[in-house]
Amino acid sequence: MDGPGSDLLPLSAIPGRRLSIPGAIWLQMRFDRDPLTYMYGLRAKYGDLTRLQTRMGTVLVAFGPEYNRALYQETDLFHSRPFVLPGRKHTAQHRLRQSIFSLNGEDHKRMRHQLLPVFQRSMMGVHQFAIRGHVERATAPWAAGQVRDLHRDVHLMVWNVVRDLLYGLDEGSASADLHEAMEHWMFQTFAPWVRAFPVNLPFTPYRRMLKDAAKLEQRFLDIMRARRAAGAAGTDALSALLRFTTRDGKEVPLEEIVGHALTLFLVAYETTGNTLNWTLFLLSQFPQVQQNLLDELAGLGPNPQYDQLDAAPYLTRVLKESMRLLPAVPYSRRLTSRDGALGKYLIPKKTRVIFSHYMTHHMPELYPNPERFDPARWETIKPTPAEFLPFGAGPRTCLGSSLAQCIIKLAVAHIVPRWEINVVPNARVDRHMGISLGPKGGLPVVLGAQDRDLHQSPITGNVRDMVDLDRAAPAPRVPVAA
Ligand code: HEM
Repeated sequence: MDGPGSDLLPLSAIPGRRLSIPGAIWLQMRFDRDPLTYMYGLRAKYGDLTRLQTRMGTVLVAFGPEYNRALYQETDLFHSRPFVLPGRKHTAQHRLRQSIFSLNGEDHKRMRHQLLPVFQRSMMGVHQFAIRGHVERATAPWAAGQVRDLHRDVHLMVWNVVRDLLYGLDEGSASADLHEAMEHWMFQTFAPWVRAFPVNLPFTPYRRMLKDAAKLEQRFLDIMRARRAAGAAGTDALSALLRFTTRDGKEVPLEEIVGHALTLFLVAYETTGNTLNWTLFLLSQFPQVQQNLLDELAGLGPNPQYDQLDAAPYLTRVLKESMRLLPAVPYSRRLTSRDGALGKYLIPKKTRVIFSHYMTHHMPELYPNPERFDPARWETIKPTPAEFLPFGAGPRTCLGSSLAQCIIKLAVAHIVPRWEINVVPNARVDRHMGISLGPKGGLPVVLGAQDRDLHQSPITGNVRDMVDLDRAAPAPRVPVAA
């Protein structure tokens, strides 16, 4: 901005609508139920920037690379904010809401600096062996002919990887019931009916969620207390969090970092689990792509090193295309810390802004035939960070992107050559938005031994709005590479 009052237009010039309080609650519910349908509707009606005005404030919904760039780069103006439902001060829900996503400015920089070593790409050479072990254990009970919930298997597998590598915990100190407790709390915290009426009254879903938050917090505090007592000297994320100090170098009370510990765990396995799920789903629906990938993997031998997988061009394109088409994080939010500008508009302090990775990735002007799953498009395109942002961009880029890609590539390279995964014919596959975008109510698949006799299962559900499944041509039989 050149200076106050330059050529900028007022907020009121942004097209949009004014909403009553009940209208705003209704809108919030519709958004929470299905943000993608809602965002498509806004873009069709108002264009790339919409203003939703309520008595509680302004929400802008911004689409496209220009806005993405500003929102990611101008971190002093566009502050990140927690995505978990608020709770009253001094409650577990309030404490669990605090995370790196709620930090800005100097505190955010210090926290990133603290966590960075844990996530360095060079760590993947070490982590790959543990990850491969988890993939092997997760798939050991699989058998040809079984019908399984792929979503559950994959999530539990990634949860175990995160528990082990980022939290230094094992089955004894953090068993599957902690996974259930986390899933349960998270499901409630993102449920539209809980978010629509966040009032602490007896028998309300919100009250139930608060109680679960208190139990979950206790579980995490116990784990953290034990680790701090043991010295917190490890190289994992939990130890790094526990070594975080206040600005004047004092130990941070556990209650102030318990939310960080929980949120990091949740975002790590939810996003990675959903991305792996979507990738396996797409491969199962596009036999020719799977054949091509099998050819590439066959050339790498039975247990390729991670460096080989990371350099494998077709696998890399498949993953990029999967994250473009079905990004686990379909939108992000910001809050203005002061008066400023977005594009050609003046916007006041405390304006909430939503911007969308998904909508950007589905813009036909950036990606022709955007709903088409076409890994080959990556041979010729080189989008900017504001055009392709599955892991965000700028100073808040995802810390776990190397780890996530390492887990996904190792898992795909282990599973696909061994197992033929087919969605149960005529199953309904709908999207569900929790912490991230995944299949609603699981992903039922039939397992078979990989014999390269691949076919596409007919399916229904609104995943068909996101991916053009009719273009998946029947796969020609391709001989197994020698
Ligand atoms: C495929 C999996 C993943 C996807 C798609 C993903 C996506 C994202 C995105 C889009 C952001 C930016 C959010 C924003 O700007 O508001 C982000 C931030 C972040 N992600 Fe990931 N993520 C993934 C895996 C992970 C993993 C495994 C971790 C490990 C703990 C992780 C930790 C973080 C952290 C700490 C941030 C916040 C960075 C900051 O604010 O400075 N993510 N992620």
